[in-house]
Amino acid sequence: MHGDICDRELIDRLLAEHQPRAIVHFAAESHVDRSIHGPGDFIRTNVNGTFTLLEAARGHWMGLDAEAKAAFRFHHVSTDEVYGSLGPTDPAFSETKTYEPNSPYSASKAASDHLVRAWHHTYGLPVTTSNCSNNYGPYHFPEKLIPLMIANALAGKPLPVYGDGQQIRDWLYVTDHCSAIRAILQAGKPGEVYNVGGWNEKPNIEIVHTLCALLDELKPDAAGSYSRLITYVTDRPGHDRRYAIDARKIERELGWRPAETFETGIRKTVEWYLANQDWVAHVQSGAYRDWLDKNYAGRS
Ligand code: TYD
Repeated sequence: MHGDICDRELIDRLLAEHQPRAIVHFAAESHVDRSIHGPGDFIRTNVNGTFTLLEAARGHWMGLDAEAKAAFRFHHVSTDEVYGSLGPTDPAFSETKTYEPNSPYSASKAASDHLVRAWHHTYGLPVTTSNCSNNYGPYHFPEKLIPLMIANALAGKPLPVYGDGQQIRDWLYVTDHCSAIRAILQAGKPGEVYNVGGWNEKPNIEIVHTLCALLDELKPDAAGSYSRLITYVTDRPGHDRRYAIDARKIERELGWRPAETFETGIRKTVEWYLANQDWVAHVQSGAYRDWLDKNYAGRS
């Protein structure tokens, strides 16, 4: 069902019809650059949408018998960005790190995390939350760093690196994120937060060079290495310098570990994009081109 999480009537109807044992709340506006150009959508979907979903879930949950009520879960998928930005030698984010969101996106996700927490403490709704690092892999929308760089390289377009390219992100292959959520649904404790990460801190420029090297190997371009397309552009305002996740709690308590290394995951990702260029072409619709104009035309 393609619907709007702010549409309470629709959600009530779906819950009544499907009687789910769990709700996994992935629905969010997620792109920092878009949140800078248009924060209103982020407040609406991430804050009001989460509120609507929590209220609908609470209504559904209250109608369950005691056994189903105890087994029910509302899992909230969140981000490491709520914790703010780290200095080069700061310890990685643990679950007790203070919230210091810096972008409209991360502030809206922080607000939603607080709502989820409050619905547990106030109403007893059996919630769990995961705060995950940057994902990558198949079907990643080409507005984000990795799929954008692959799509631009294959089109012979510039590879726009913001600022000095030394910003660090902690990358996790998407199916490892899914297995972490599965582990939390199976054995996570209601009210608990789990940080999920791949122990893969990398500066952006290194990611872009890795992508160029893989493309040079898998789809060589007669014009030379794709790295010739790397172009440094004006930085993102308020750009967080470093994110890093301390994933020891989920490893210790739930026995979760990522299955992919960065090397295996990034190779699978490039191979997937090469084999699925139809999908990329399909999502590069008119609205996508408008976005590229808005986000990149103003950068020197
Ligand atoms: P992004 O995929 O937008 O994720 P997030 O901002 O949530 O971490 O960006 C990842 C990093 O890549 C981030 O530091 C911004 C940088 N970046 C670029 O340098 N150029 C780009 O064109 C994009 C989209 C991102």
